[in-house]
Amino acid sequence: MGSVSVRAIVLAAGKGTRMKSARPKVLHELCGRPMLWWVLNALRRTGVDEPIVVTNPELDLLLGELDAPTVVQAEQLGTGHAVRIALDALEPRDGLLVVAYGDMPLVDASIFEDVLAAVDPDAGTALALVTARMPLPSNFGRIVRSGPSTGSGSVRRIVEAKDCDPEQLAIDEMNAGIYAFDERALREAIAQVSNDNVQGEYYLTDTIELLLRAGRRVAPVPVVDYRSVLGVNDRVELANAAAILNRRLCEEHMRAGVTIIDPATTYLDAELRIGADTVVFPGTRIGGFTRIGASCEIGPHTRLSNALIADDVCITESVILDSTIGPRTKIGPYAHVRAGAYLGADVKLGNFVEIKKSDLGDDVKANHLAYIGDATVGPRTNYGAGAITCNYDGTRKNRTTIGADAFIGTNNSLVAPITIGDGAMTGAGAVVIRDVPAGDKQVGNPARSIAKSPREG
Ligand code: UD1
Ligand code: CA
Repeated sequence: MGSVSVRAIVLAAGKGTRMKSARPKVLHELCGRPMLWWVLNALRRTGVDEPIVVTNPELDLLLGELDAPTVVQAEQLGTGHAVRIALDALEPRDGLLVVAYGDMPLVDASIFEDVLAAVDPDAGTALALVTARMPLPSNFGRIVRSGPSTGSGSVRRIVEAKDCDPEQLAIDEMNAGIYAFDERALREAIAQVSNDNVQGEYYLTDTIELLLRAGRRVAPVPVVDYRSVLGVNDRVELANAAAILNRRLCEEHMRAGVTIIDPATTYLDAELRIGADTVVFPGTRIGGFTRIGASCEIGPHTRLSNALIADDVCITESVILDSTIGPRTKIGPYAHVRAGAYLGADVKLGNFVEIKKSDLGDDVKANHLAYIGDATVGPRTNYGAGAITCNYDGTRKNRTTIGADAFIGTNNSLVAPITIGDGAMTGAGAVVIRDVPAGDKQVGNPARSIAKSPREG
């Protein structure tokens, strides 16, 4: 873009009433990110200066995590009014200004690049705007041109669907709502926009006629696929847009070497990293800031959120949240690993095993029906079926420390705080209430403990 200043305004102050939601429309999520994030992200990738967002007072309070400068439009008097408010907040500059709407999550950087390439203040083109041929009926503003048929001749003006006569309603070339302006020309024009229309709003689109009257040119930039500029107005459109974005994300990963068996039932968040030759099986949802290594098998029916997963890991029909998994570890089916668990290399977790806030060394095995919470388990320890860390005494969470090469018997209750030494062994069914020294094999072992088994009399 050279040295020309390029700034951007994103309009997001509308109420979005058709969402029927307590939450502002542009904060509804698609693939793990708010609708508005998608537009801002595409603009940032285009290389524009930090976009400024026009919000309403409610939305403004909730925008924190999006980390964009905002200007509040107290009353929604129309897109032209919203742009005027943003311009008032910006120091005037010679340069280009992109205007986009916050409810268009499918627009990608290439569309912004195309519209910016078409505006040329020095050659008298003060505005370039994206247009799209769409099936009728449609609520989009119609592109009225000078030519005898749709799409021919130069752009004369945009008529909002609500202001159209029947002939204009039949036009199938629409205003996508993506503009690149010569900022100086826009400032002059926006000051003259009136609200003399069916909705009594100040329309940004009325700047077209004003610019033409001032002797400037307006360049249309048609898109090939109208679906890339569809807005989201209700939850049906939200689901459709999310499906398109999800498909795009799946395709990006597939092109980068990930096998996704069924993209239609694989749900990915934006900004994931997945290594080559990893296979994702159906019914799997991968979200947050998850990173997955190479040659893993993930799914089917698995949920990963904020998971750091090394290479060659196999996770099937399980849930992993906020946890780290070492290489070659095998998890599932039906395991639940959460809240800052850390699993080393070659760990094996079988069915109905829950790990919470615990550190498992390399080669630890917990193959069946177990709970490990607030614990450290040393390498190579075998944690028997049905064994439970009793980590909560009703008031406090207490830690369990198990050494290396230990053997925790089936159906043990390890009453924390407690330490089980390296190489120690506990017998089946033991309720372990005192520390077990390293190498000890007495606790709960019927053959060796003081309490004799009934048969021994
Ligand atoms: C607008 C365009 C229409 C275009 C369509 C594409 C105008 C006048 N019309 O119509 O030509 O085909 O988008 O989707 O621009 N907003 C504010 N403040 C306001 C009003 C709106 O910030 O006072 C924001 C909304 O939050 C929304 C965007 O501007 O993100 C567009 O407003 P909306 O009311 O949805 O306009 P449309 O009727 O869809
Ligand atoms: Ca809209």
